[in-house]
Amino acid sequence: MNRPAFEGLKLNTPAHVQHHRLVNWVAEIAALTEARDVYWCDGSKEEYDRLCDQLVAAGTMKKLNPELRPNSFLALSDPTDVARVEDRTFICSAQREDAGPTNNWMAPAEMRTLLQTGDQALFRGAMRGRTMYVVPFSMGPLGSHISHIGVELTDSPYVAISMRTMTRMGRGALDVLGADGDFVPCVHTVGAPLQAGQKDVPWPCNATKYIVHYPETREIWSYGSGYGGNALLGKKCFALRIASNMGRQAAAVDGTGWLAEHMLILGVTSPAGKKYHVAAAFPSACGKTNFSMLVPPAGYAGWKVTTIGDDIAWIKPGTDGKLYAINPEAGYFGVAPGTNDLTNPNCMASLKRDAIFTNVALTDDGDVWWEGMTDTLPAHLIDWQGKDWTPAIAKETGAKAAHPNARFTVAATANPVLDAEWDNPAGVPIDAFIFGGRRSTTVPLVTEARTWAEGVYMAATMGSETTAAMAGGNGAVRRDPFAMLPFIGYNMADYFQHWLNLGEQLAKKTTAVPRIYCVNWFRKGADGKFVWPGYGENMRVLEWLVGRLEGTAGGADNVFGFSPRYEDLRWDGLAFSRTQYDSVIGIDKAAWQQELALHSDLFKMLEQRLPAALPATQKQIAERLGA
Ligand code: GTP
Ligand code: SPV
Ligand code: MN
Repeated sequence: MNRPAFEGLKLNTPAHVQHHRLVNWVAEIAALTEARDVYWCDGSKEEYDRLCDQLVAAGTMKKLNPELRPNSFLALSDPTDVARVEDRTFICSAQREDAGPTNNWMAPAEMRTLLQTGDQALFRGAMRGRTMYVVPFSMGPLGSHISHIGVELTDSPYVAISMRTMTRMGRGALDVLGADGDFVPCVHTVGAPLQAGQKDVPWPCNATKYIVHYPETREIWSYGSGYGGNALLGKKCFALRIASNMGRQAAAVDGTGWLAEHMLILGVTSPAGKKYHVAAAFPSACGKTNFSMLVPPAGYAGWKVTTIGDDIAWIKPGTDGKLYAINPEAGYFGVAPGTNDLTNPNCMASLKRDAIFTNVALTDDGDVWWEGMTDTLPAHLIDWQGKDWTPAIAKETGAKAAHPNARFTVAATANPVLDAEWDNPAGVPIDAFIFGGRRSTTVPLVTEARTWAEGVYMAATMGSETTAAMAGGNGAVRRDPFAMLPFIGYNMADYFQHWLNLGEQLAKKTTAVPRIYCVNWFRKGADGKFVWPGYGENMRVLEWLVGRLEGTAGGADNVFGFSPRYEDLRWDGLAFSRTQYDSVIGIDKAAWQQELALHSDLFKMLEQRLPAALPATQKQIAERLGA
């Protein structure tokens, strides 16, 4: 590491910071980026309020009407900076093969030249005219043996306040670090230096973007975007891409390692008072937040669903052979459009106050609105691009009031059904995994894998229609193994092997290895509408799953698992005919022949390191399909 070349800059290091490696690194990055000054975040409410005021003064955020939405804000991003940029996301492992065919790769030295060391290096002078915020954070409960510390250096105060909501941010994380604790260094700039006297824009960013991970040295460097997973580096960059590497590397030490997954975690309690924990992986904008806050429908008195996490799970085997999961996050960065009092009342309740909304529309009385929030459209709005919006304009131009990837940022503690154990440093024991894509055809409502390997096959070959959560998402089906395509930090085939190995290790210690399920809420009818009502009605599927764990629920074998028949689900309070059910559960042989060909394409791409168990499972499915 270079010594700081920018000796004139005051680092403003608080007296309680005794971590020399941290201080040296802060100095080094401040020098490289030529930040105007350095501010160490303490994570206090006073600091949050002050930075919010500053963001309002800068025009980045607007304060919402305190009578309607107390202590809440609206931020409108630059229209080009609205979602994760997968084509600009890189895994810079020393060997290309270790990033694998599903990730963008560049040699570390080449990337460092581009970002840090070359004459034209992008981070050189990138923070000129801006404050560099030092944001220490813990992913997971402070001090938990499953948790890890990160420090993000960012020139975006919007990122700094968002990190306070999304992670355990501030003094507590520094205290865990002590004088020489390990942390993942995360460097972030919006890539918009200011010349002396230059007026800032409300949402600075850069057309050039790089979201870069060095798995061997466990570093994250993010350039050019201020939005979501591109910029809140604790989330996808650390808790998935870097952590998936940590979890796999740990296997070389302890024989099992651990998992970093794009999964919600929920608790489901039956009327008999028995509680189970389920972790579910659905791709971006495919229903994790909604499922994690599910409200059981009428007829399900006594059932209760509680949220441990809504997006990411870190899962470790305990000495008893069970898997224990924590939510590394402390808040929700959730999709706004489609959220309403009927589909997700718990989410709506958590957004009543103390929330930041990004790229939703502003009502005339200073509140927020998005598509799907209410049946009746407001007569007038300011849309997410700051333009006038009326139902007539929308009808004529198709203009959306809220961007389809508009999101809210809110603390987990605002959730009325937050699980009592959500913050338990030991985690919660997982009884079942669910994998589910967004598929208008082919994939049935729910299937139980007969074995761990069959479950890994289902997860590995999962397809899903892309959504607005990624730049360029257009509804086309792509393979999204484990809902981790954009998030795995190493070779996807090695990741499949890691899952297969873990199942084998667990089976040596316990007879209660978690079962694996595959779901699809999104089959469409000839009218183009979803056939399955979804949301709270997904409880019927969850009840069946619990019945399977208890050995009471029946079903029938299909070509790749075991699914409920019509009479195996409970229909109290829902008019859903046998014919409708057939159209969400049925297996179309021709469609599945095509589907298997797509699985083969994926296996072909990954063939260098593909575990043999996967093509072997495919062969069995093909045989059953042919029979
Ligand atoms: P990320 O935060 O991007 O990882 O997404 P997520 O998986 O948490 O997705 P979320 O729960 O925010 O849902 C995304 C969209 O899917 C929203 O518009 C929801 O209204 C819609 N959705 C969620 N669950 C269901 C369901 O069961 N059926 C239907 N039809 N739509 C759903
Ligand atoms: C996703 O895209 O899966 C998200 C949103 O959860 S972001 O944090 O922007 O990646
Ligand atoms: Mn996500």
